[in-house]
Amino acid sequence: MIIQKSNRLTEVSEYYLSRKLEEIRWMNATGEKVINLGIGSPDMPPSEETIKVLSRSALNPAHHGYQSYKGIPELREAISLWNQRTYKTTLNPETEILPLMGSKEGIMHISMAFLNPDDEVLVPNPGYPTYTSVSKLLGAKVRPYDLLPASPQAIDMEKLKKEDLSKVKLMWINFPHMPTGRRADETLLAALVELAKEKGFLLCHDNPYSLILNDYPLSIFNVEGAGEVAIELNSFSKSHNMAGWRLGWVAGMESYIKTILTVKSNFDSGMFLPIQHAAIQALQNDDDWHRQQNQEYIQRQVVARQLLDLLGCTYTTDQAGMFVWAKAPGHIKNVEEFVNEILQKAKVFISPGQIFGSNGEGYVRVSLCSSRDLLMEAYQRIETYVKTHTPQL
Ligand SMILES: Cc1ncc(COP(=O)(O)O)c(C=O)c1O
Repeated sequence: MIIQKSNRLTEVSEYYLSRKLEEIRWMNATGEKVINLGIGSPDMPPSEETIKVLSRSALNPAHHGYQSYKGIPELREAISLWNQRTYKTTLNPETEILPLMGSKEGIMHISMAFLNPDDEVLVPNPGYPTYTSVSKLLGAKVRPYDLLPASPQAIDMEKLKKEDLSKVKLMWINFPHMPTGRRADETLLAALVELAKEKGFLLCHDNPYSLILNDYPLSIFNVEGAGEVAIELNSFSKSHNMAGWRLGWVAGMESYIKTILTVKSNFDSGMFLPIQHAAIQALQNDDDWHRQQNQEYIQRQVVARQLLDLLGCTYTTDQAGMFVWAKAPGHIKNVEEFVNEILQKAKVFISPGQIFGSNGEGYVRVSLCSSRDLLMEAYQRIETYVKTHTPQL
């Protein structure tokens, strides 16, 4: 390459799953038929009415122009009502909600809006890799905190409080947590808000999994007074089966939202109007629609666990979200090799845990975003593989 890449890219590499999916595409192109249990992209469709609204709106010749950076008022109103229904929180649709093209993009907007080089950012370990890569891209310092797999509270608050957090500007939290499936309760959220107030940093709750295998959805705004220091990202990707549509939002106090809008309005030129109309419709999905999705996930979870049993992996049975997080058997020294071997020999892909941080070493993550039939086929392939390859396992 004649032209050198920017310095900021020296600390960041291409997203592991992006590289792996390319490898899987190659394998499939040569007729391998890999079953991909690696990614959390729902295979079930959005509600039928959502798709109808999209197509009806797209047929209107007046609906194809640039749109407002803040989204149409009706969408913000619908998001506000959905928050009220789901979490019993009150958000002003005019000033406290900003629709986004996916919450992943929101992580960049928020980080650009609040971080200066050398600011510190608390990120969960294990956790969603984008918190780390975006912080690094901006020259901020990543401070991983342990997300505990099996203690009464997911975060050891006493330990965290004792640390020197004077340079921390932003803390990412995410419950139900990806990849471990751990939930938070109000006590933990309240303790985090208190810590953010005491140390003076912004607490960002990334909340895309609250409706998946989770009976008690919680928002950071369920904590009294959280708005002073906290904002919340949410997404249509998982809860409404709309990952490819790129739809999410950030909610928070007016001054925080305005600051994020300063960044966002310099990035994009508004969201396609028919997508906004369809999003309003999706937010009307009733409890029955969500219940049906969850019933399907419960059945898939059973097969995913059986598949993990075959591999000798162990897991807790109280996980929320759309994955099963499991510990690889003790004699497996290198989980990435273990996963590669399963990919090459059984043609089934599961994610190695270390891509989510050093505390993910020794773990694997299985996605529930494949049909029961496919999961059953993956089970059978792994059964055959285990029978013929036990010594290596
Ligand atoms: C914890 C977490 N946050 C954010 C995202 C991004 O979601 P979106 O599709 O809204 O960008 C994901 C996607 O996998 C995720 O797991």
